[in-house]
This record gives sequence, C-alpha cells and structure tokens, in this order.
Amino acid sequence: MHAVGGVVYHDVTERKWAQKAIDGGVDGLIAVNNRAGGHAGGLSPAELFDALASFGVPLVSAGGVGTAREFVDDLAIGYAAVQLGTRFIASTECKASDAYKQAIVTAQESDITLTERLSGIPVAVINNDYIRRLGTKAGPFARWMLRGHKTKHWMRTLYALNSVRRLKAGLSKSSGDGEYWQAGKSVAGIHDVRPAGDIVREFAAAWRAAGEAVTAATSR
Ligand SMILES: Cc1cc2nc3c(=O)[nH]c(=O)nc-3n(C[C@H](O)[C@H](O)[C@H](O)COP(=O)(O)O)c2cc1C
Repeated sequence: MHAVGGVVYHDVTERKWAQKAIDGGVDGLIAVNNRAGGHAGGLSPAELFDALASFGVPLVSAGGVGTAREFVDDLAIGYAAVQLGTRFIASTECKASDAYKQAIVTAQESDITLTERLSGIPVAVINNDYIRRLGTKAGPFARWMLRGHKTKHWMRTLYALNSVRRLKAGLSKSSGDGEYWQAGKSVAGIHDVRPAGDIVREFAAAWRAAGEAVTAATSR
C-alpha cells in the first residue's frame, strides 16, 4: 500500500493486536469498541483510547455512534475520527432491505446481542427469532476446533460457508426467516432512515458548535 501512496488503518480490539499492527507498519488504528455492530471488541471507547494512545498514531473510534452527541463525545476523548456502520445502514442510500433498516430504527440497546454461532467470534446482531434459535455460544466441537492454530482456520471456513448458505436461504424466503441483522448499540439513538449526507452534515455541525463553545468559554 505504501509503495503506491496508500495508507493502512487496521481494526483492533485491544493493545496486543494493535502492537502486531504497529509492528507491521500501519499508519493508524481503528479502535473497535464494545458498542460496535458486527465483530465487536470488549472495551469502552475511553478504555480503548487509553490502551492505544501511547502508540502515537491516529486513532479512529468504531462503535456505538448513532447520534451527533455520541460523535462529539468520541472526538472529545481524543479520537482523530469516527467510523460508523449501523447509522449508515439506516440511510436512504444503503442497499440493505427495508426490514433491516426498520429493525435498526425500532431496536433498543437491549435488543443487541452477541453471538459466536455466525463466525466463531462474537458478532453484535439484533436479537430476533432466528438468532434465538441459532443460540449465542459456539458448541463444544467448534470451541475445540477454534482453539487449535490450524483447526481454527478450518472452523472459520465452515462458519463462512454456513453464513453464505443461511444468507441464500433467508433471502429466498419472503418471510425473512433465517435473516439476521448485524447492528450495534447505537440503535438506541437511531430513529429514522435519512440521507447519508444529512447525517454527516448534522454530525459535523455539532462538532463545530462544540468547538465554538469551548473557544467562547476559554476566551472569556
Ligand atoms: C452489517 C455490518 C457488517 C460489517 N462488516 C465488517 C467487515 O466485513 N469488516 C470489518 O472490518 N468491519 C465490519 N463491520 C464493522 C464496521 O466496519 C464498524 O466498525 C462498526 O459497524 C462500527 O460500529 P457501529 O455499527 O456501532 O457504528 C461491519 C458492521 C456491520 C454493522
């Protein structure tokens, strides 16, 4: 990437993975926290910032930002930027199904659950009948496979193949049975489906207003 003028930011959930990424020469880190949609981490945005700040590279916060307030809070911690997933799924431009977008709009924070049954590592999804049937913990055979250096790759391939099979089955049924929706705890603050540009403008305006408020307070 560097040879062609690109930059590399690596997803990390804790310091040991960040060290590996830094040793590999990354330009920045994406700090995936415990509020993220998809493969979530275990630490809060502030805890993860403290764990990673000493590397001295730009840190991007990923997880839990559905409102302008949460966006400003993450930047105020010291993050250089914020990566949004769930909020942009509930946007006009996103090609996700209407059922998925409505599930995000109506879900509460308590509807977000972690399941290991999709990929072998915890994935944040909206709890629905399908996820309740699937369960949240990997079975004993999968756990044993996931412990081995080589076997874990076979197990993850199995999970990936199963995901494709499930996705095909789910999408071919009009009931949506077999469909699952990855989303994070930011669902709590997401109440509408809006154009992505509106979301970005609202968040940017909130950050500018916060900056102006600080300037006004310090120049008094
Ligand atoms: C449907 C969905 C799919 C995702 N797929 C990936 C992926 O393939 N690779 C990845 O690094 N992160 C993936 N993520 C994580 C996002 O890049 C982002 O870090 C996360 O969504 C931020 O949390 P938020 O959803 O609370 O905004 C995914 C997230 C969602 C919701």
